[in-house]
Amino acid sequence: MSNPSLLILPGDGIGPEVMAEVRKIITWFGDKRGITFDVSEDLVGGCAYDAHGVPLTDETMAKAQEVDAVLLGAVGGPKYDSLDFSVKPERGLLRLRKEMDLFSNLRPAQCFDALADFSSLKKNVVAGLDIMIIRELTSGVYFGEPRGIIREGNERVGINTQRYTESEIARVARSAFEMARKRSNKVCSMEKANVMESGILWREVVQEIHDAEYPDVELSHMYADAGAMQLTRWPKQFDVIVTDNLFGDLLSDLAAMLTGSLGMLPSASLGAPMANGRPKALYEPVHGSAPDIAGQEKANPCACILSFAMALRYSFDLGDEATRLEAAVEKVLADGVRTADLLNEEGVTPATTSQMGDAVVAALDASL
Ligand code: NAI
Ligand code: MG
Repeated sequence: MSNPSLLILPGDGIGPEVMAEVRKIITWFGDKRGITFDVSEDLVGGCAYDAHGVPLTDETMAKAQEVDAVLLGAVGGPKYDSLDFSVKPERGLLRLRKEMDLFSNLRPAQCFDALADFSSLKKNVVAGLDIMIIRELTSGVYFGEPRGIIREGNERVGINTQRYTESEIARVARSAFEMARKRSNKVCSMEKANVMESGILWREVVQEIHDAEYPDVELSHMYADAGAMQLTRWPKQFDVIVTDNLFGDLLSDLAAMLTGSLGMLPSASLGAPMANGRPKALYEPVHGSAPDIAGQEKANPCACILSFAMALRYSFDLGDEATRLEAAVEKVLADGVRTADLLNEEGVTPATTSQMGDAVVAALDASL
């Protein structure tokens, strides 16, 4: 069988800096674990615009459709702010998500014990937290028609439409139940069935899919506003949360921040299964290109490294190796190695981007 394939798109700003650290990890897996990927690398975002006049070429798009997984750094930067909307760096990322039809956005909120002091919540509320928010990514109010700003009489009216088909709800529900089976078998679905018809349908369809296909998974339903309260009150009551595009946008940001720095947050966006049974997949850190620190060896590579760990688990069936990598990151933090974003004391010299990556590689070595 051929090696699993991975397309790396470092992008702009700190993207290439954090991706260089992931490269060290990929090399380590090849050398020390005999796990070899066919890695190709290409341009996305501003750097692609500089080279080709578009933020994503058709060739790169075609390659992304063929590989087992795409790993992206970040796109954008002030240099490109004045570009026409149609060629802005973000359009490259949006095209990937749209054409790969990545409807299921996975945002883990995981608290590393060594960083529990970083949370805005009390340490005992977040220590050991490990939940997964699944946000529907390709439909809902951000895409529904009609939309626009129209004139009605003598005033303007802003319109957006929340619209979900049964099949759109069913496929993201399945993705949540599948995820739950790989974790602690518990799903909480969030909507506003009390005030929105789309929410009523959401609740019905999630329940139907559960009863017909996943009766072994524990399912509960919660109104999304109550969910926001519960997430800040006692987040450890949840395991997998599945919700729509709009509520997921808010709830995933809220949950992520329970755990500390943007520099630590990975994500995955999954689509339908390909011929080989693996889902189409794009992995990327939650953070952007951080132009304020780009080129200074200050970026925390952990979000990108942990995104690669998600790829190991969800695209390559290497859950044990994913756990090994996550444990290596945890060990490095516990040992006190910190990039600047993870330090709030004065007088401590922060680790550089490459020192952090090297420390993770050393922790991987120690795991053997
Ligand atoms: P950002 O995430 O790039 O930065 C926000 C703040 O967090 C900055 O102070 C930055 O230095 C810090 N930060 C981010 N990642 C970090 C890391 N790994 N280590 C240490 N510190 C880190 O968001 P911002 O400033 O709003 O956007 C900057 C550019 O990135 C813009 O052009 C924006 O459009 C783009 N962007 C791209 C995204 C993507 O590629 N998915 C997502 C968000 C923004
Ligand atoms: Mg958001």
